Amino acid sequence: MSHRVAVLAGDGVGPEVVAEARKVVDALGLGVDWVELPWGSAFYREHGRMMAEDWPDQLSGCKAVLLGAIGDPSVPDHVSLWGSILELRQRLDLWANLRPCRLLAGIPGPLAGRGPDDVDILFVRENSEGEYAGVGGRTHRGLPGEVGIEVSVFTRAGCERVVRLAFECAAKRRGILTSATKSNASRYGYVLWDEVVEEIAADFPGVRVERVLVDALAARLVRSPDSLDVVVASNLFADILTDLGAAIQGGMGMAASANIAPGTNEIGIFEPVHGSAPDIAGQGIANPAGAIWSAVLMLEHLGEPEAAARLLDGLATTCYKGPRTRDVGGTATTREVGDAVAAAVASG
Ligand code: NAI
Ligand code: MG
Repeated sequence: MSHRVAVLAGDGVGPEVVAEARKVVDALGLGVDWVELPWGSAFYREHGRMMAEDWPDQLSGCKAVLLGAIGDPSVPDHVSLWGSILELRQRLDLWANLRPCRLLAGIPGPLAGRGPDDVDILFVRENSEGEYAGVGGRTHRGLPGEVGIEVSVFTRAGCERVVRLAFECAAKRRGILTSATKSNASRYGYVLWDEVVEEIAADFPGVRVERVLVDALAARLVRSPDSLDVVVASNLFADILTDLGAAIQGGMGMAASANIAPGTNEIGIFEPVHGSAPDIAGQGIANPAGAIWSAVLMLEHLGEPEAAARLLDGLATTCYKGPRTRDVGGTATTREVGDAVAAAVASG
């Protein structure tokens, strides 16, 4: 069966890493039909918007979007992100962001005495509300009394769906769920979140659940990542924790993510955790591993678990044997890594 997949390569290193992700998926021979979307910061400079106005129509018929990264020094970041990825996540109600954080063999990790056996965490990030609900305002601009208000929005329904998903993930893994909040200093939204965790825990007697304050959890990620299995957290907290997670899995170039709405929506968006990396864009040295791993998550979403497993195997083999890009201790180009993964997949 063939699949229609939209490609939003975006800005900076986005097109460089997405080209390799496409290449390795093509090497699987599934007959993926790619629909290219020319959106991003260059599109903004020409049209005054980040995406075409009729983007929902252009995405219709696609079960997945493979996204590179959006962001360019020529456009303010809050404009480029709210005009693209945050708009897509909210309008498509992609309320869960899954971010596997595994240190693959062969990739140098920064934690002394820690190896691949110690780092295997799945982050489940609330992806539609919380601190990124987009509610707030500015007033008295430019005056000494200027105000900027950013409101965090936590709804019972929003907390319940993401917490339940995290319990389901933990039940399929090592059976430990860590919920991160800051419900000592913040008295409302995170307290509601904690209560929802307690309630849903009753449905999962086989999962050991712990509530941890996010600042303590940041330290624990470094001190004892092996104690963590599934971590569920709000939009902001999981955003920050997963950059730390990316660091302990070898760097920003390694980390992958899936924006999905299990059970309620057909489409998903699959993207590396990193941004457009303007500091290395155009040099052909970006690590495509995070984008390729995102394609693995995409294939799972498309109902191709065997192809997904083959691709993850090919990526793991390449990380182990090389070639590797220089952020993970090698000297290879982006394309050489993609070629190696494609060859591993074709022979596997
Ligand atoms: P970034 O993730 O682009 O870069 C942070 C650091 O990681 C840089 O040193 C960069 O060189 C390195 N890095 C990133 N990806 C890499 C890769 N594939 N291989 C090797 N090294 C890599 O984050 P930054 O600099 O904060 O943001 C740059 C732009 O990206 C901004 O405009 C920001 O708004 C945007 N952004 C977009 C995201 C998205 O599209 N989902 C997510 C995060 C940031
Ligand atoms: Mg982030």
